[in-house]
This record gives sequence, structure tokens and C-alpha cells, in this order.
Amino acid sequence: MENKNNMKVLSNNNIAEDTWRMSLYAGDRDFSFMAGTFLNIKLPGGRFLLRRPISIFSADKNNKTIDIIYKVMGEGTEYLTHTREGELLDVLGPLGTGFPIQDDSQSILLVGGGVGIPPLYELGKRLREQNKTVISVLGFKNSESVFAEEEFRSLGDTHICTDDGSAGFRGNTLDFLKDHEIDFDCLYSCGPLPMLKGLDEKYKDIKKGYLSFEERMACGIGACYGCMKETKDGLKRVCKDGPVFRLGEVIYG
Ligand code: FES
Repeated sequence: MENKNNMKVLSNNNIAEDTWRMSLYAGDRDFSFMAGTFLNIKLPGGRFLLRRPISIFSADKNNKTIDIIYKVMGEGTEYLTHTREGELLDVLGPLGTGFPIQDDSQSILLVGGGVGIPPLYELGKRLREQNKTVISVLGFKNSESVFAEEEFRSLGDTHICTDDGSAGFRGNTLDFLKDHEIDFDCLYSCGPLPMLKGLDEKYKDIKKGYLSFEERMACGIGACYGCMKETKDGLKRVCKDGPVFRLGEVIYG
């Protein structure tokens, strides 16, 4: 298998409701990666057969320390919360095709929903390094589930939306964009399917952009064809050809 490593856990902390941030040490190998790519992590203990795909939230300048943010979605991810500093994790990655950066786009809109938010932060850092303007609209369930707000604020204007209105705008990111006209050249988004579909419908004919799709995965490396998505160019594998697709590329069933 490609890109298989043992990565040492540097920390693993609860940062919001059901949400954890883990730092991993990538070692001496070259860990350069495209923002929007992911790690496929084997859960320790041998109880769980399938690896868990988790996107990269941030890396340090030399790509030595890699941070991921994951949500507890079931037994497997709950098990991951018990991983302690110093343990080694069996990790495949970086995997997939991430967010391309458009040289001719100066103002950028990032739209993230829930556990889809993390990969947008590494992307935003790289966009800021190119002096692009970054505006973020981030959607959460409630104030307890908000995470990484400070990191996104360090990139530029950041709007928090919560379903129950307990923090920021009351409503989801699509409601926010209906109420607020934001001028931008290129959209990048990751989050739940209804949000991505709504953004596609709203912007595909008028803007450039890229959407990252979440999908259940088995192999994570393009071998099992278990994560297919219908696109205008035929069926594509979310794990290898994606998870990032162009605005207007995916056909929704
Ligand atoms: Fe196997 Fe995508 S998960 S091809």
C-alpha cells in the first residue's frame, strides 16, 4: 500500500462537543500534501477492520507536525479518543486529490459545515500566504460544537452560524449566504451533502469553485471502487479522484 507510516501521537484533546484535535508527528519523510487531502487511519487495538478517513486540519511549516480534527461518530472514532501521547498510529496518506489554488482568484470564500470544516483551514493558510483575501462562513449545530474559530479569524472575516442561534447567525451557512451578499472570485467548501448541493445550485453558473465530498470509504486508495460518485465526466472515486470536485461537476441523485 502506498504512503503507509507509523505516526507518533503528540497530543489528542477534546476541543468541542464530540470533537477532538490530534497532533501527529510525521517523522523525517517528505510529507508535502495538497490542502484537502486526508489520512486513512487504522484504529488501534485490532477491533475495527476499516480505517477511518480523516482530513488534515493543519501542518507546521516543515510538514513535520500534522494536526487532524475528528468528530466522534460511532464506536471507532470514540475508541480513537482514548489514544494517548506517544502511541504509534498506522496511517495511510496523504491520500486523494485536494483543493487546487487558482492564481487568478484574489478573493476567496470558504464555506464549511461541521466536521467538513477542518481541511478549509490549511487551505486558508496557503491562500493567505499568497496574499489572497479569505472570508469564512462556518456552520455548526450550536455554541458547544464551535471549534477553530480563532484559527479562521486569523485568516480574515469569519462568520459563525449555528442551527439554534446560540452563537453567531441563527441558521445554516446557506441561510447566511441568502441573507448576506458576499463578493468573491472563488469558492471552496466542505461539509454535508445538502450544503454542497445548495452551493452548487447557487453558484455553479456564475462562480469558480471546488467542493469536497464526504463519503464512506473502504480501501481509501482507489482500489475497491466502493466510493463512487456520478459526475459529468462519468463515475469517479471520491477517495482518489476526489474528495474535491469542481463546482458543477457532481451529479446529485
Ligand atoms: Fe476504495 Fe474509494 S474507498 S476506491
